[in-house]
Amino acid sequence: MEANLHNAAAVPVNLHEYLRMHETKDLLRFITCGSVDDGKSTLIGRLLHDSKLLFDDQLAALETDSQRFGTQNGQIDFALLVDGLAAEREQGITIDVAYRFFSTDQRKFIVADCPGHEQYTRNMATGASTADLAVVLVDARKGLLTQTRRHSYIVSLLGIRKVLLAVNKMDLMDYRHDVFAAIESDYRRLATQLGIAEVQCIPLSALKGENVMRRSQVMPWYDGPSLLEHLEQVDIAHDASTVGFRMPVQWVNRPHQNFRGFSGSIVSGTVVVGEEVIALPSGRRSHVTAIVTADGDLPQAAEGQAITLTLADEIDISRGDVICAGKRPCEVADQFAAHVLWMNDAPLLPGRPYWLKIGSRTLAASVTEIKHKVDVNTQEHLAAKRLELNEVGFCNLNLDQPIPFEPYANNKALGAFILIDRQSNATVACGTVDFALRRAANIHWHALEIDRHARAAGKGQAPLCLWFTGLSGSGKSTIANLVDRRLHALGYHSYILDGDNVRHGLNKDLGFTAEDRVENIRRVAEVAKLMSDAGLIVLVSFISPFRAERRMARELFAAGEFAEVFVDTPIEVCERRDAKGLYAKARAGRIRNFTGIDSPYEAPEQAEFHLRNVDVAAEALAQGLVDDVVGRLLLRPAH
Ligand code: ADX
Repeated sequence: MEANLHNAAAVPVNLHEYLRMHETKDLLRFITCGSVDDGKSTLIGRLLHDSKLLFDDQLAALETDSQRFGTQNGQIDFALLVDGLAAEREQGITIDVAYRFFSTDQRKFIVADCPGHEQYTRNMATGASTADLAVVLVDARKGLLTQTRRHSYIVSLLGIRKVLLAVNKMDLMDYRHDVFAAIESDYRRLATQLGIAEVQCIPLSALKGENVMRRSQVMPWYDGPSLLEHLEQVDIAHDASTVGFRMPVQWVNRPHQNFRGFSGSIVSGTVVVGEEVIALPSGRRSHVTAIVTADGDLPQAAEGQAITLTLADEIDISRGDVICAGKRPCEVADQFAAHVLWMNDAPLLPGRPYWLKIGSRTLAASVTEIKHKVDVNTQEHLAAKRLELNEVGFCNLNLDQPIPFEPYANNKALGAFILIDRQSNATVACGTVDFALRRAANIHWHALEIDRHARAAGKGQAPLCLWFTGLSGSGKSTIANLVDRRLHALGYHSYILDGDNVRHGLNKDLGFTAEDRVENIRRVAEVAKLMSDAGLIVLVSFISPFRAERRMARELFAAGEFAEVFVDTPIEVCERRDAKGLYAKARAGRIRNFTGIDSPYEAPEQAEFHLRNVDVAAEALAQGLVDDVVGRLLLRPAH
C-alpha cells in the first residue's frame, strides 16, 4: 500500500465528515484511453490499488448524499463531482464508462475509464467531455497506433488541452531510452497537429510499478515525474473566465405566489446583485434583486456555483433559457457549423430530422450539409455525403428555432450537444458548436395576405396532401392517377407529384442512395407544402421508403391536412408484374440500391389509408379512397 494514497478502509463512516475533509482539495478529472492490450486496466488497478477508491455504487450513494448535504450546507462543492454524471444520465446516453474516485494528500481525482475498442468511441467522448486531462496509453513495443490517433483526435475535439502519454510496457523493451524517445517525438508531432498544448510523456511499466507511483530507479535517463506525481502537480487552474456571466436555467422555482426564482449552475463569469442581465433567446432585460443559495443570500456568485436568481421585473423565462450578463450576452442562432461525431450503426443522412439536445433544451434539427469528414488518422479533410459509425464530420446544422449558445472552444456547457434519433430515442451523435451561420438570420418569412385556407376555399375545398407510399411497381401511381381523375370529375383542384416525373426535373441530380432518397423526399415534401398553400389537393406518389422522411413530410402539415396512403403490394407481386423491367435488372445486379432488394422499405405503421393491392382492381381501390376522403369531410372548406 502506498503511504500517500488514502485507503478505502479509511473512508469515514460519516460521509459528511469525509466530504468536509476533502472540500478544500482541488479536483482533477481525467480520462484514460488506450487500445485493448496496452495495459490500461493494470495501470488503473495499480493507481487505485489500496487507495481510497469508491466503487460505482458508493459513488451513487455519495451523489445522493452530497446533494442532500449540499442543500443543508452550501459550502460543499462535492455535488460538482457528480454533476457530469447526472447530466449524462439525463441525456439518456447509454454509456459504458467506469467513473472512479480516489484521492491523495494533494488532490482528489475522478477517472473515467473508457473501453478501448473502436466501437466504444462514444464512451470515450462521453468521458472526455468533462475531463481536464487525458492519459493516453501506448505499448512501448508498438508505438502509436490508429487508436492512439483516433483517441487523441477526440481528446482535442472535446477541448482537452493536456495529455499524459503513458508509454507502457517499457520492461518488455529493456527500459531503453531510444525506444521511448522515438515514441515521444512521434507523439509530439501528432499533438502539435491537433493543437494539444501540453504533453507530458512518461516511460513506465504498469506491471512492475515503474514510474507509476514513485519515480523509477531502472530508467535513470528519465528525470521527469511519475504518473501519480504528474497527476498531482499538473496545473488545472481554469483560465480566468474570458466570457461574461452565463447561467442556463435548469428550472423555474416558484414555491409560492411571492417568490419567482431561476435556478441553475453558473457556467461562466460572475454575477452581482444589482447587475443588469439579459434572458436569451427572448432578449428581455432586467436586474438581479437577489442571489439565493441554500447557504443564504449572497452579494455575488461565480462560475461553478448553483444559485437561484430573482429579478426586478416579471419577465418570461423558462427552462433551457440562458441568463447572461447584460453587457456581454452570448449569441443566439438557428444555424451552426459544428463538428459531429457519429455514434450509430445506421449512417447520418443530411436532411433527416433528429432531436438536438443542448443544455436542458431539446429541439428539432437536421444536418443540412456535410462540409467534409475528417480522417482521424491523418487529419485530412475528405468529401462525404454521409457519416458512418465513429466518423467525424464538419457540418452545417439547421434548428427549428433560435437558441442561445457559445462556441464550444469558449464554453463547453453552452457549446456541446447530442443528436437523438426520433424513432428509437437513441443518442446517435455528439457534437461541438464551432460558430453560428448568419445566413438565415437575414431571411424572414414573408406572410402572404391570402392564406392557404382562403385559397383552398376559393376552389371549394380544404388543403390536403395524400401521400402515397409503397414499393416500386406497387401501383401507387396508377391509383393516384385514378384518384386524381375522380377528384377532377367531382370538381376538385388537384395535382400529382410523381417520383419518376419529379426525378426528371427538380430532382434529376439525385440517385438512389439513402442520402439521395432523404433529399428527394425533403424536396418533394416542401413542394407539396407549397402546392397545398396554393390551395391544391396534392397527391404525392413516391416510394418514400423511410419512416423518418414520411414523418418529416407529415410535420410540414397541420393535423388533418396530411394522410398517408400505404399501397401494400407484396414484393413477389410487384416483381411478377415488373412493368418497367427494373426488378429483373436489380436481381441481375445491374441496378444497385433497389428498394425491397438491396435497399430497405420501412412499411408505415399507422397510415391513414391502408390499401391491400392484391386481387383488387386499382379502380375499386381508388374509388374507395376518394369516397373515404370525401366522406371524412377532409375536403370540406373551412368557413
Ligand atoms: S424514392 O425511394 O426516392 O422515394 P422515387 O419514388 O423517387 O423513389 O423513385 C422510384 C422510381 O425510380 C421507381 O418507381 C423506379 O421506376 C425508379 N428506380 C430506378 N432505380 C431505382 C432503385 N434503385 N430503387 C427504386 N426505384 C428505382
